[in-house]
Amino acid sequence: MIEHGLKVKVAPSILSSDFTKMAESLDAIKSWGADWVHCDVMDGMFVPNITFGQQMIRDFRKHSDMFLDVHLMVQAPERYIDEFIDAGANLITVHQEATTHLHRTILQIKDKGVKCGVAINPATSIYTLEDVLPDIDMVLLMSCDPGFGGQPFIPYALNKAPKLREMMGDRQIDIEVDGGVSEKNIDQILAAGINCIVAGSALFKSPDPVRTCEILRNGNR
Ligand code: DX5
Ligand code: ZN
Repeated sequence: MIEHGLKVKVAPSILSSDFTKMAESLDAIKSWGADWVHCDVMDGMFVPNITFGQQMIRDFRKHSDMFLDVHLMVQAPERYIDEFIDAGANLITVHQEATTHLHRTILQIKDKGVKCGVAINPATSIYTLEDVLPDIDMVLLMSCDPGFGGQPFIPYALNKAPKLREMMGDRQIDIEVDGGVSEKNIDQILAAGINCIVAGSALFKSPDPVRTCEILRNGNR
């Protein structure tokens, strides 16, 4: 078990919701006892799928007081960051692979007073983030190729977390995992030092999402 002293947060991915029932899904996510709402923004360019944009985040904010964890799977996200922040995002995560001037993009987010995460795809090395770690609030480790919910978990994503915790040293920040997370692999995920748990299918298809949420937070005990 890798120690980090951070709270575990569960972030249901609203991508797995019925898009005609977003308000009900936001209320359901809250009732499950989850911490964040994970919002997958896809542009059909960085990833082969299109989901929703700023207007959806603005409407989520009107309806809900929950923490909005906005995952931008968008090429050159710096074009839209200010709009997503104005819409009410609490945390903006950009992909290291999607922005040429990552340092500038991080500053753009932090200057507006919201939290900043950087995501890496399964095949991207954690060492690409070594120099920016002091400036960011979260690293998102993709455990599937981004673009779709319901894909299998890529196990080697887990090897990255203990190494990242070591790189972080005295300043431990959130590490989030996204893709194929379930009750079956959560024990290994938590043991690896990951503390922000994104889950779409595992929660939205669960017969008992409150119980699943509890297991994703504490493991199978
Ligand atoms: C994938 C998205 C994920 C997705 C996870 O590109 O970033 O957030 O919704 O869905 P599951 O948990 O079903 O793999
Ligand atoms: Zn995501």
